[in-house]
Amino acid sequence: MQLFIDSADPIEIENAYRLGLISGVTTNPSLAAKSSQDYPKDIEKILRLIHGPVSIETVATTYEGMVAEGTALSRLNKHVVVKIPCVSEGFMAAKKLSSHNIAVNMTLCFTLNQALLAANAGVLFVSPFLGRLNEIERNSGFELLKKIKQAYSNYNIKTKILAASIRQAEDIETAALIGADICTVPYNILIGLSAHPLTKKGLDKFLTDWKGSGLSLPV
Ligand code: G3P
Repeated sequence: MQLFIDSADPIEIENAYRLGLISGVTTNPSLAAKSSQDYPKDIEKILRLIHGPVSIETVATTYEGMVAEGTALSRLNKHVVVKIPCVSEGFMAAKKLSSHNIAVNMTLCFTLNQALLAANAGVLFVSPFLGRLNEIERNSGFELLKKIKQAYSNYNIKTKILAASIRQAEDIETAALIGADICTVPYNILIGLSAHPLTKKGLDKFLTDWKGSGLSLPV
């Protein structure tokens, strides 16, 4: 399962990329509003840095507007993925953009039917929001992910499942066990993923034993 960062902050994105933690980025209007003063400039920085999918969301509410914004965004860089919400105009726009070989990520997916519509629109990614559902009813986000995985495999659907709205490190493990293709993760969770107290304790002991041994490596 690939990991993406769910952020619009170029500093977070650069750190996560340099640490080798991520292979793509998902942004959304709320993340942009939180971290950006100049969004076009930040997107330019992100696109210069990341050689992998970068989802940028449209903000138009009409079919024509989404197609126009999506087409313009796709021209910024070959790595741009146009993020479109799972609303009726969105599915139409996604179908149109996908028919022109523009990569689309259908976002705000909360039902299997939305995920089926996304697949029928021919999009590259669908993003079920696990955390927002789990907060309403325990594990319902994971249940949705299972249903999408099962239905997509029944029909050999090529749309990739991008698990979003991640709340804790354990959600990533659950998404991987269910079979998400990608998980997009906030920076604060990403940077903690490598740590375990037994790894630290074990390494301290290895190094103490090594220093006391007087041995050297065969290099
Ligand atoms: O970027 C889409 C999604 O991951 C947002 O998650 O934390 O706003 O529920 P959240």
